Amino acid sequence: MSFISARWLTTPLFAAACSVGLLASSPSFADEKLPNVMILATGGTIAGTGATSTTTVGYTAAKIGVEQLIEAVPELKKVANVKGEQVFQIASENMTNDHWLKLSKRVNELLAKPDVDGIVITHGTDTIEETAYFLDLTVHSAKPVVIVGAMRPATAISADGPINLYNAVSLAGSKDAVGKGVLVALNDQINAGRDVTKTNTSTADTFRTPELGMLGYMQGGLPHFYRQPVRKHTTESEFDVSKLDSLPQVDIVYGYANNNRIALDAFVKAGAKGIIHAGVGDGSLSNAMKPGLIDARKDGVVIVRSSRVGNGILARNGEANDDELDFVASDTLNPQKARILLMLALTKTSDTKAIQKMFYTY
Ligand code: DGL
Repeated sequence: MSFISARWLTTPLFAAACSVGLLASSPSFADEKLPNVMILATGGTIAGTGATSTTTVGYTAAKIGVEQLIEAVPELKKVANVKGEQVFQIASENMTNDHWLKLSKRVNELLAKPDVDGIVITHGTDTIEETAYFLDLTVHSAKPVVIVGAMRPATAISADGPINLYNAVSLAGSKDAVGKGVLVALNDQINAGRDVTKTNTSTADTFRTPELGMLGYMQGGLPHFYRQPVRKHTTESEFDVSKLDSLPQVDIVYGYANNNRIALDAFVKAGAKGIIHAGVGDGSLSNAMKPGLIDARKDGVVIVRSSRVGNGILARNGEANDDELDFVASDTLNPQKARILLMLALTKTSDTKAIQKMFYTY
């Protein structure tokens, strides 16, 4: 999308034109030769607007509606029959368990329809990695689910949203993306929902899978895969949230030099059912924190040792005797992803041996 067309997107005239259907061709799934892709919009920078064309920080996220996002990329019609649905309109730092439950239920409902071939979710980049993993574990379909965002608002010079959306729709309609689990596609790269993380506060190449590697590229509007996810996901997941209206409270305590157990004790007092310890190094427990974790375990809180480091295997019985303490090791999941798996695990069991097995499975 050029800046001018982007600028036009935010004018009342364009919105009015869309509202009376002059522009928002509400595309039914028309061309039988093309895949049918639903675009579920949740907000974020891809829907953001800034005061000027050079505003790439300090803009407002979640302003442009899904029909306007679609209208701004007419090329979408060349790769898929698309329909849009505005599920939320939020900046993703405000994503909650309630949003995730609603989104997962809607995705499962749509993918059960024979005339829906894939789904794209437009989303703020701040918590894309969390939503992606939550859906990776709760969507029960092999059809592609692709989460996309942007690092520059729609009104900026060289906005990355339009090309990211075009690639995401093409990927979601591709048979090559079937059975790969939830995918995150920005900046011409395809990453797995389990392992992708945001690695830079503001640059367009922020989404990476450090060390374990991305799954492939988008080039010329087509996916090129070079890897497969190894852990179970989607159709092989045991987690079903279809009948849940809430999720167990799981919080994260951060490790650092000279830390203490104050926040941990507060989380436990507030009713947390699980705690993720984002430890230093290989999940080491300080002398100040360890007694707090032991007390929490005695209160029935499930403790998962993760690491603030972000890469590598968090080894069971490495920096702490997990067998003796009855703690769980997070394997390669970073703290924010470990929180999601523990939340879902606690919907099924509080048995730490069963939960440890889940951390080696998903
Ligand atoms: N507020 C942030 C969010 O919605 C903006 C970041 C973005 O979407 O790129 O995640």
